[in-house]
Amino acid sequence: MELLLTTERGIESVAAQEVRELIRRRASVAGEGRLRVRGDARDILTLNYCSNSLHRVVLLLLESEFSTLDELYRAVKGIAFGEYLSPEQSFAVRASRMGEHDFTSLDVARVAGQAVIDSYAEARGVRLKVNLDAPEVVVRVEVRQSTCYVGIDTTGESLHRRGYRVYQHPAPLKPSISYALVRIAEWSAEESLLDPFCGSGTICIEAARYAWRMPNLLRRESFLFWKLKFLPLEEFREMLVEAEARVRKRELPIRGCDISPKHVAGARQNAERAGVAVSFFTCDATRVSLDCDKLVTNLPYGLRIGSRYKIARLYRKFERHLLASETWKRAVILTGAPELFETEPAQRIDIMYGSLPTAILVFD
Ligand SMILES: C[S@@+](CC[C@H](N)C(=O)[O-])C[C@H]1O[C@@H](n2cnc3c(N)ncnc32)[C@H](O)[C@@H]1O
Repeated sequence: MELLLTTERGIESVAAQEVRELIRRRASVAGEGRLRVRGDARDILTLNYCSNSLHRVVLLLLESEFSTLDELYRAVKGIAFGEYLSPEQSFAVRASRMGEHDFTSLDVARVAGQAVIDSYAEARGVRLKVNLDAPEVVVRVEVRQSTCYVGIDTTGESLHRRGYRVYQHPAPLKPSISYALVRIAEWSAEESLLDPFCGSGTICIEAARYAWRMPNLLRRESFLFWKLKFLPLEEFREMLVEAEARVRKRELPIRGCDISPKHVAGARQNAERAGVAVSFFTCDATRVSLDCDKLVTNLPYGLRIGSRYKIARLYRKFERHLLASETWKRAVILTGAPELFETEPAQRIDIMYGSLPTAILVFD
């Protein structure tokens, strides 16, 4: 099986490393926020349930060059959908498009949807039902310039939605990016980790989930692959139990602090819902002891905190405090204002956070 994996733009190499660790296969980066890997059916379960960096796992059925919607129709119609959908199942096409075209992604979805219906009707003599709101099977069609990728979504809602965020911070970090920061820090469970601007605690929670080998527990029943009858679903149930048996709960030296008691209380709630144990406390990051092995954090962007002057002052104070502290071995900082740091980082990775250009700065 050819699997198309999506992740956040900028963290593809972390995702490739995680895929190798999880399924012992080499994934190749196939563009921004995308990886490809050859795997078997079991890998679909493992990647969905156990990965922390991926957003979606798509079983790729077709990759084809095309220029007109007619060509797209013919390419999609050539897929043997009878192998993947049962006659009573409803489906929907979800389409996305990148590049210059004289058609929209809605046109792509409409044409591809008709091609699925016609292909199935010709092969099986049954007209498949379309259900745009709650389809049993989701066919993904991605158009990138003159190439179309057609596949079956095995995930559903993006995997970065872990389900533990009961407290909503106004500027939360995606769990997949939080996990990537922890991996870039090369943190291991024996080392202490501190997030001095922890907000709702995502970085600390993701570090703990990683150390405990915690699967995506709260998403267990929501994956779209449960509807795919051509997959060995009985075996998948056993694999869930095996993955859960590998969870290694232990005490971890992970701490997070924030200047806002409200966010600290929220971080505790989120950690509890995630089922991990992390210590959160209220403190000013420019005064707290930065005594730790790895410091991993996401600084305020200045969009909500007020004036640019205020944010520049906070960055300067924190940088001075960081440099004066001698214990940490590596600091990994995600920021929307990298230019406010005077010290040259050992490494800089630019990533887009939604529409916001941000950078991961690594200091050693
Ligand atoms: C971008 S948010 C962090 C979001 C967090 N990563 C999450 O996923 O929820 C930055 C946080 O820094 C906190 N903050 C601002 N100034 C601070 C200071 N001097 N000391 C500690 N925290 C501070 C804010 O309250 C905010 O929660």
